Amino acid sequence: MNSATPLTQQRQDSAAPNSNPYESERLLREYLLFHYATAREVAGHLWAPVDALEYPARCVTKCVDVSVLGAHSRALDLGCAVGRSTFELARHCGEVIGIDYSTSFIESAEAIRAGRSLAYDCLEEGELSKPLNALLPAGVDPSRVSFEQGDAMALRDGLGVFDVVLMANLIDRLHEPSKCLLSLARLVAPGGQLVITSPYTWMLEYTPRENWIGGRMEDGVPLRTLDGLRRCLERDFELVESRDLPFLIREHARKFQWSVAEGTRWIRRA
Ligand SMILES: C[S@@+](CC[C@H](N)C(=O)[O-])C[C@H]1O[C@@H](n2cnc3c(N)ncnc32)[C@H](O)[C@@H]1O
Repeated sequence: MNSATPLTQQRQDSAAPNSNPYESERLLREYLLFHYATAREVAGHLWAPVDALEYPARCVTKCVDVSVLGAHSRALDLGCAVGRSTFELARHCGEVIGIDYSTSFIESAEAIRAGRSLAYDCLEEGELSKPLNALLPAGVDPSRVSFEQGDAMALRDGLGVFDVVLMANLIDRLHEPSKCLLSLARLVAPGGQLVITSPYTWMLEYTPRENWIGGRMEDGVPLRTLDGLRRCLERDFELVESRDLPFLIREHARKFQWSVAEGTRWIRRA
């Protein structure tokens, strides 16, 4: 337990050009930091908007109604990356599955679940970096959690139904988001919760324009992503809440991206 495993010993390579960016060592380091670093590790001595830190934890604490959950509850974290929201869901549910398309993200999440301290480098400036460690958050029971590699647009049979499905910053990274959204009715139990958070950053690199569910003109009228979500979901889900969720991504010691996701909570109709 807790023997530090240098990330560079596990992944010497960077992702090849045109391959999945989420397999690159740079994004793996950025996501380990985004999910597991303390405020001090993210911002050092600089002022930082504290309400924009700990985003993967806030997707759970601010968007999921945890009061209706318990040891009997099952949760699914789709596009879990390196797993922080999955662990946060395990504070409230007896079983949580985290699924991501990136093999390196899932391997890292599983290493943390198994109790290893995952060593990684955090970029300071130029070629300089500082060593950090990613650890299982305190108080989380790892036996409630499992991770698997999978495609949110073509999930395997046999996952069962869930009391909570979380999709954090995923929809605008899918090739065909509507395909994933339309498959959710069979995954969420009647009365169960679907939480979708996203800054709606549509990019051709990830999603062909004809598949954008919002952020474009349609028949001369602006189509917002929230309207696209309603169009895909409202037959099976009722929108019950939406909120703004700021988040901060550190690029290096003196450069940060500040974004504001919209978090929506939907209840599966009976
Ligand atoms: C912007 S990141 C968000 C990760 C995490 N939920 C968070 O909020 O930090 C998008 C994630 O979706 C994953 N992803 C992209 N396409 C996917 C797919 N088809 N199925 C499952 N995961 C996918 C990526 O590997 C990446 O981890």
